[in-house]
Parts: sequence; structure tokens; C-alpha cells
Amino acid sequence: MKRLFLTFVLAVIVLVTSNAQNRLTVNAAEDGPQISKYIYGHFAEHLGRCIYDGIWVGPGSPIPNVDGYRKDVLEALKALEIPVLRWPGGCFADTYHWKDGIGPKEKRPKIKNVFWGGTVEDNSFGTHEFLNLCEMLGCDAYISANVGSGTVEEMVDWIEYMISDDDVEMANLRRQNGREKPWKVRFLGVGNESWGCGGQMTPEFYVDKMRQFSSYAWEYAGDRMVRVGCGANGEDYNWTKVLMERGARNMNALSVHYYTIAGEGWGNKSAATGFGEDRYFNGLRQGLRMEEVVSKHSVVMDEYDPRKRVGMFVDEWGIWTDVEPGTNPGFLFQQNSMRDALIASTTLDIFNRHADRVKMANIAQMVNVLQSMILTEGDQMVLTPTYHVFNMYKVHGGATLLPANLFTEKYVYGNNALPAISQTVSRDESGKIHVSLSNIDPAREMKITVEFYGKQGVKVNGGTLLTAPAFNSFNAFNKPAVVKPVTFKNYKLTSPNVLEVTLPSKSVVTLEME
Ligand code: AHR
Repeated sequence: MKRLFLTFVLAVIVLVTSNAQNRLTVNAAEDGPQISKYIYGHFAEHLGRCIYDGIWVGPGSPIPNVDGYRKDVLEALKALEIPVLRWPGGCFADTYHWKDGIGPKEKRPKIKNVFWGGTVEDNSFGTHEFLNLCEMLGCDAYISANVGSGTVEEMVDWIEYMISDDDVEMANLRRQNGREKPWKVRFLGVGNESWGCGGQMTPEFYVDKMRQFSSYAWEYAGDRMVRVGCGANGEDYNWTKVLMERGARNMNALSVHYYTIAGEGWGNKSAATGFGEDRYFNGLRQGLRMEEVVSKHSVVMDEYDPRKRVGMFVDEWGIWTDVEPGTNPGFLFQQNSMRDALIASTTLDIFNRHADRVKMANIAQMVNVLQSMILTEGDQMVLTPTYHVFNMYKVHGGATLLPANLFTEKYVYGNNALPAISQTVSRDESGKIHVSLSNIDPAREMKITVEFYGKQGVKVNGGTLLTAPAFNSFNAFNKPAVVKPVTFKNYKLTSPNVLEVTLPSKSVVTLEME
């Protein structure tokens, strides 16, 4: 008893006298699960200026392009090494009839995008343009099939058109349209938000639909395609329960959508720029609720699938703010600040730490919509703070999660507090260890000791830092480098296995070591 008391007193003295109260203890001897590379996935919908303008301008455009794809955007996306791209929606997916988007462009029918701004689209971006884009980016394709207003036959024809190498009608139609060899399509979403824009279905009704659509997807695509059941709206755990109970055998993955609202709710979301600390704090708080969402859905999934055969795909996530003043409200065009970069890093940390169940995540969306990587205006392009986080974090995709324990101070705002530091530690195939640390406190720097067990000394190869003058700083077209990554050197080894790192306020740091 006396010994225990002395140990405790010693621990308190160490805590009080040490500059670094924050501690991360990494077990380098034990492997956690592999972090799926698909956690770093993206989503591009026919919405506002995401596809048209943002990605596709057409070969005749004065904007520099490669066969119709914006050159600047293509290059920026290639640098991100994106693993998977989800398309064509979103809500748009359940209104999309793929045959409208194939064949000679001048013959393609025009359609009205009923969910997003009522814009008339000329269908110049369709199946060929999407799958060729995936090939150019070197990423896997994730197609969302139309369940809400489509048929099994339509979906099956689409599958055959895309992936069949047989001498059959749809594959021959593809050949006639200029593509001899089939594409690879790895993921198939069976509807989108079927509880809402995808058909207003109950889980009981949807699960039967999913089983029906999915069994024919199986028939025509076999195990070449991962079938993704439409999952819950945020915290609707009953949806997950019904899907798992009655449909676990008919799908390989189940999705979840969760958006962060930094204001009071959907009617009062928060501006994307020029906001105060209340919206900063609340944005981070709501973002961190992803932990609860993922954990609770995991518990339900574990009950029916203890072996974790069915992956959780968080295939829409990110902060949703007010649109930029003067822009079409249906286009969801929002700026992107340092707050959003921290929401991205802390959310990716949550996914990484749940790598045993979370097998894919797709931030919404890739260009010009919601929490984008890239914003464009005419021939101008800017990389957002969120882009830089994805670029820093890509090292964790496919790596092995290392078990780590974090003791962190709090970021206090009024009567509320959040953990100030968030982390991911992983080891890649070549044996390099990457430590990502975010400090969400907007005013205080944080010293943290990172201690490695099960390793004979560490060597730091270098680090990258993302921070900004203010928590609401952003990159504008005329000031594109306000928030940009720089070399980070504020760390030192205090013993062979212990690193002391000083994190600036509101910052994300990734260190590489071996
Ligand atoms: O990402 C924007 C929209 O959010 C998607 O179309 C829909 O699936 C979700 O409600």
C-alpha cells in the first residue's frame, strides 16, 4: 500500500514538474490491424461544379485540359495518390440512368439534376469519362447503382457494360462506343441514402431491395465486385441492426454517412470562413463525434458479424457549412479553413484507430463541393487545407496500425473541453514509422513526449507541419498559400526511444522515423 502510494506521488511529481504533460506511448512490438488504403477515398457527385467545371471542362475548353479533364486538377489529384473514387452520387445516383451517358456526346440526352440546383446537364461526363478518369488517377472505381428509381435489369446491364469481356450485348455496345477491353470496377453501391433521397425507404423495405439487387450483382459480377449495402443516416443504429440481421450475407460492406455541422443544426450551420471560436470549437466537437458513431455501429455489426467480414464504409463524411455568399445554394460550394483541416486529421485518426472494421471512407467531396480537396473558378485552382492533410496522411493508407496510448491535456472553451491532441501511429511495408499528431487548441502550443517500446532506438527522418495564422484562415484564389505544409523541426530525441515534440497551436504534424 505504502509502495503504491509512493509510486503515485512520484507519478504526480513527474507530471507536475515535466514540461510535457502530454504523452504518447507506442507499442512498436505489436501489430494492430492493417489500415485500409481506402480510408483515404474520395467522392465526386454530379452536384454543382464538382464534375462539370471542377473535373471535366470538355476537350474544346480554353481551360488547359487532357481530353476534357482539367489539367491542373488532374495533376493535383495524382499527387494525392487517391485509392478509390465514388460516383455518380449521392442523391444524384438514384436519379441517374447510365445509358444517357454513353455513345456520341452530341446524341446524349440532356437531363435535369433535380436534387442539386435544377441544372440541365448534357451528359458529356458519363461511364467512359468516369472510368477513364479512374484509370488516369490509378484508383479503384466505386459505382453507386440506382436503386431508388432504377431497376435490377438496368443495374445488371451497367455491370455487364463495364466489366464483361464476353461476346454479349452490353459488352459489345461498349466496344461499339470505343472501349474494347472491360474496365475494372471493384465496388458497387446498392443505392444511396435509401432512407432519404434514395427512395424514402424503411430499413425493412430496403433490406429486401438490397438482397434482390445484390443477388443479381453477384450473379453477373461474382466476387469481382464488393457489394455495398446502403447504411445509416448518422446515428440511426436501428438501420444497421436491420441490415445486419437480415442482409449481412448479401453484402460485403455496409455504409454510414455522417456530416459535421459546426453551428446549431441544419438550419444554422456556420459560415465556412470568418467564424468565431464558438463555431471552431463546435466544429471540432461535432467532428470528434465520429468516434461514437463508428463505435456504436461497430457494436451492432459485431453482434451479427463477429469475424468482421462486412466492412464499414463511411462513404460520405466531412464538414457541411453555409455556401459561399452569392453562390447557388443547391451547389454546396464552400470554402475550407484550418478548422476543416483539423476536422479531417482528427476524423482520419478515428478511422485509422477503427481499422479493424472501417474499411473505406470517402470525404465529401473531391472538387468544389462541401469539404473539398480543390476549389476552382474559371481557369484558377486552389488546394484547400484539407487537401494538405490528405497528402500528409496518405502514408498511413495500407500501413499497419501500431497500438498507442495517449494522455492529453484538454482544449477548454467556456464550460466545455475536448482532448487537445489526436494521433495515428503506423508502420509501412518498408518498416518506416509515421506519427501524425494534431493539436486542436487554437491558442496553446503543446509539448508531447512520444515513447516507443519494443524498438531499439528511433531515428527521425523528418517532419511536415500544417498550421495557419488563425483557426479560420483559408486559401483563396488570390492568396493560395496561407495554409500550406512546411518542414517541421521542432522535435528532439531525449533518449534513444523518447522523442519530445512541440506542436504549435491549431496544427497537424506528421513525422517519419525508422
Ligand atoms: O454530399 C452531398 C449529399 O449529401 C449527397 O448527395 C447525399 O448522399 C448526402 O445527403
